[in-house]
Amino acid sequence: MEDTELSLNERKVLLALAGKGPRSPEELLEGGGFTEMVEVMSAASWLKSKGLLDIHEKIDTYYIPDTEGKQYIARGELPEFTLLKQFKDAEKKDVAQLNSTGLPGGEVQIALGWMKRNGWVSIHKEGGKSVALLTEAGRKQLEEGPLTGQMRLIKLAADMETGGGAPEADAKKLDAHALSMLLTRKGLLKVRERYVRTLSLTQKGERLAASGIKVGEEITQLTPDILQSGRWKDAEIRPYDIHTFAPATHGGKAHVLRESISRIRDIFLHMGFTEISGDYIESCFWNMDALFIPQDHPARDAQDTFYMKTPATMDIPEELAVTIGKIHENGGDTGSEGWKYRWDGKPARRAILRTHTTVNTIRYLRDHPDPPVKVFSVGKVFRREATDNKHLAEFHQIEGIVMEEGASFRMLIGVIKEFYARMGFPEVRFRPSYFPYTEPSLEVEVRFGDRWMELGGAGIFRPEVTAPFNIKHPVLAWGLGLERLVMKRYGIADIRQLYMGDLEWLRKTPLQ
Ligand code: PHE
Repeated sequence: MEDTELSLNERKVLLALAGKGPRSPEELLEGGGFTEMVEVMSAASWLKSKGLLDIHEKIDTYYIPDTEGKQYIARGELPEFTLLKQFKDAEKKDVAQLNSTGLPGGEVQIALGWMKRNGWVSIHKEGGKSVALLTEAGRKQLEEGPLTGQMRLIKLAADMETGGGAPEADAKKLDAHALSMLLTRKGLLKVRERYVRTLSLTQKGERLAASGIKVGEEITQLTPDILQSGRWKDAEIRPYDIHTFAPATHGGKAHVLRESISRIRDIFLHMGFTEISGDYIESCFWNMDALFIPQDHPARDAQDTFYMKTPATMDIPEELAVTIGKIHENGGDTGSEGWKYRWDGKPARRAILRTHTTVNTIRYLRDHPDPPVKVFSVGKVFRREATDNKHLAEFHQIEGIVMEEGASFRMLIGVIKEFYARMGFPEVRFRPSYFPYTEPSLEVEVRFGDRWMELGGAGIFRPEVTAPFNIKHPVLAWGLGLERLVMKRYGIADIRQLYMGDLEWLRKTPLQ
């Protein structure tokens, strides 16, 4: 082991212990040039892990005065001594006549008991009465005064109380017999136990210390000041151990869904689109009727759509509703035959959680019927679906339209392909599909590895949709799924992973 592998504090501990045998950390703190105990103990535990030092732990017993012990210290004597003083004038006393002066409560009995155990008096029967006779030992104690063996121990405990109490060893040294007596008495001493550590060098540690260790300035952190002043030339620089344990820190970062949405936003903005948004709560009118979805369409079923309780209904533009209702019934003047049923304003007023973001688009077109229009939105939609590894009742759609003179089917395909290519998925294919609001209608599929995945729909709005808004040019529209795309982007197998708040996974997943 090289001495440079030890920190400054480790070397200080090593030197302080070298050739000296076990010492307490407190001794090292005082004499070893440390300022805080943690420095000593952390250096010691590092030395221990390097096999250079042993840390011994044992439990030590200490005594501090208990409540009664404190009272006797205040009085200056134990009750047996107070009683003993009554024998100053007469060496023989009738036990029944012993008075309780200075001895509250039942202390007379206790005091007499201890006088007997100490051998200060002997009790005899005389004519049916108990009498106490002062002994030689009792006379000696009276001369010596109140500092009996037990009293001196209580005082020792009181004197050392601020330091944690009198150590058992000190107490035994003072008077082992009195200590064992004292401990049988209640309320005089409190017994405390404490872990005590001692440090000593192992043979390896002694050898290293003997081989010569320097304690000079040690640089643990290079600062501009140290570099400029040139101090680094003479100082020792602490080797940096990259294998040392250190707690992990995690900076804040975006969620993978947020990251993906930002990327999508960037792509459409760069392609010249403007972002739009809308509310989660919509009327059926805007979410369905305005898109020429017939009122008996299965998607309107309460099994597929979340209907609101409050508000249960919403206002709709009455005049527009009449026009759109007629188109549903017979095509109005669009040239279409309509759906051929009686359109009803009531279901159109019902409030729902939007089922697709196409509702944002149609509302936008109502306000912006003039070309060119290039808008997109990324937003949450709600469908009454059972949750499993591929489905959630809340998910996001990437929606958009292009409306301009001469907008064509080829342009629609071109925009969608371009978007996916910029997301990193260049292979896209289209299959014929059906939506009530588009003709032609397309299903968009993207290739991930060796699999094609259906990611959304697209098409050109039918005249039944555009006519009520006086839109004169083709509207190319698409609505694409976000979550499945993000799953592929991040290699996730279960869609729920995106909403679990799995911090560990989020932390270790690098953002794209
Ligand atoms: N709104 C359709 C859906 O939710 C997608 C779509 C949008 C289809 C626009 C055609 C045009 O699946």
